[in-house]
This record gives sequence, C-alpha cells and structure tokens, in this order.
Amino acid sequence: MRDVLISPSILSADFARLGDEIRAVDAAGADMIHVDVMDGHFVPNLTFGPPVLEKLRPHTSKPFDVHLMMAPVDPFIGEFAKAGADILTVHPEAGPHVHRTLQAIRSAGMKPGLALNPGTPADVVEPLIDDVDLILVMSVNPGFGGQSFIESQLRKIERLRHMIDQSGRDIILEVDGGVNEKTAPSVISAGVTAIVAGSAVFKGGEGAYAGNISALRPRVHA
Ligand code: DX5
Ligand code: ZN
Repeated sequence: MRDVLISPSILSADFARLGDEIRAVDAAGADMIHVDVMDGHFVPNLTFGPPVLEKLRPHTSKPFDVHLMMAPVDPFIGEFAKAGADILTVHPEAGPHVHRTLQAIRSAGMKPGLALNPGTPADVVEPLIDDVDLILVMSVNPGFGGQSFIESQLRKIERLRHMIDQSGRDIILEVDGGVNEKTAPSVISAGVTAIVAGSAVFKGGEGAYAGNISALRPRVHA
C-alpha cells in the first residue's frame, strides 16, 4: 500500500496559539501543514494571509501546503512565496487564466496545486496535468471545517488516480474535507497520497494529536 501524507488543517487549531499548535502537530507526526486562506468572497468565510504565514514559518520545517480559497490569486503569488509557502494550490474558478496562474506559481519557486470543488469535474485537470504537482479533491464545499464527507467524490479520486498514473508524473493526490478515522480508509483505497484533516486532528487537546494523526494512516493488515 502506498504511503499517505497527513496534512493537518490549522483552520481547526486555536487561532490565538497558532505557533504552538503547529509545533504540536509537527511533533505529533504531521507531514505537511495545511493552511486555508479564505477571502470572504470566493468562499463565505475569512481567515488569514501572507503576513500570518510569514510569522508561522519559523515554527516548523515541514512544508506549508497552502490552499487558496480566494480570487484573484495572481497579485498575491509573490507574497505567498516570500512568506514561505511550499505548495500553492488554487481553484480554477478563481480565474481568469488558471494555466498562467500555475506557471506563475512555479516561476515563483513553489509547487503548483489545483483544487477541485465537489461540483468541478476531473476533466479540468486534463489540459493542466503537466503543470501541477498536487491535485486537491474537495470532499466538502470549501469554506468551513467540520462538514460531512461527500461520498460522490470517491469516484473522482479514482478517476484522477488513473489520470495521474497514465501521466507518469509524480503528482500528490490530496483530499480535503470531512476526512476522519471512518472515511480515511475509503479515500486511501480510492488512491489518495495525502489527507487534509482539520477537526479529526485538532480534537481532544494536544495530547491526542499523535493518536489522531496515526488513526488516519493506512492500516497494515497482517
Ligand atoms: C474547508 C477547508 C479544509 C478544512 C477541512 O474549506 O479547505 O481544509 O479545514 O476541515 P475538516 O477536516 O474538519 O473537514
Ligand atoms: Zn483546505
């Protein structure tokens, strides 16, 4: 079975103690840190931007997996690179020209990612597959943590797994939304290589984080 990266979403962390929360999930075994940037326009919620990211950067050496739920994206690419983003993931609906955006992200020294909303078909990836290092399947509508997993996204994950295998490129296939101990096995067998989890990781206080993270990893059956 392939390895799966766990990327805790700090949307569910204590915002007053973000640096400590990042240190805690890093020590608890997180492979990346998922940072949800929301602008109150592309999605009906607001979080944080590059200045906060920059302040968080010294708290971990793990990659910052930054998910932009904002429009427009292009004027901010340089700022996210400067703030320390490693992967910068955008939605094709953010516009106006997603191919150009992905190229600009790569030129700025980051890995480009493409996020697909539950209503966005897998086909969007086809002309862009050579330009992405990560594909993010949203298994909830973006904007909030703690929502329920949308089952129909499993078929999209399987389809994207096939497209990635055909391409021969090393692309992370990530799922985001409603992933917990119960839903993790199905996304893993559908073919993801990275799991984002907010509420499932940041529950039960710091002492629970290591157990919460390992509960999401693939089970090895004897
Ligand atoms: C939702 C965000 C997710 C969110 C997931 O718009 O993109 O990253 O934090 O939260 P859970 O894991 O609680 O569904
Ligand atoms: Zn996210």
